[in-house]
Amino acid sequence: MAKHIVARAGEISPGESRLVKVQGRTIGIFNVAGQYYAIKNSCIHEGAPVCLGTITGTFIPSAPGEFHYGNEGEILRCPWHGWEFFIASGGSVFNPQVKLKTYPVTIQGDQVMVEV
Ligand code: FES
Repeated sequence: MAKHIVARAGEISPGESRLVKVQGRTIGIFNVAGQYYAIKNSCIHEGAPVCLGTITGTFIPSAPGEFHYGNEGEILRCPWHGWEFFIASGGSVFNPQVKLKTYPVTIQGDQVMVEV
C-alpha cells in the first residue's frame, strides 16, 4: 500500500466530499466535522456510485412510537436504493458488519493522503 495525495486540507469543507481517482479506483473523500475519510465509490449492495449519494443523518434507535433523527452529516445514503452507511467506518446503519470499502487517510502538513 502507498500513500497518495488527493487534496489539500481546506479544499474539502466540512460536510462536503470530492471524488478522486487513485490507481484506477474512484474514491470519495469526505470531510466530516474536520475529519477526513475515504470510501470506494462502489456500493456493497449492487455497485452504485455510492459516493454520489446524499450526506445526511438518519433515524436513531428510540422507543416504540418515537422517531429521533441523529448523526446529521455522518451518514452517506446510496443514490440507488437508499442504504445508509456511517462515513467514518463504512458500516451500514442496519448492520455495521456490512461495510463499504474504506481506505486509511492521513494528513501531512496541508496534504490529505489516502493509502491504497
Ligand atoms: S446499490 Fe447501493 S443501496 Fe443498492
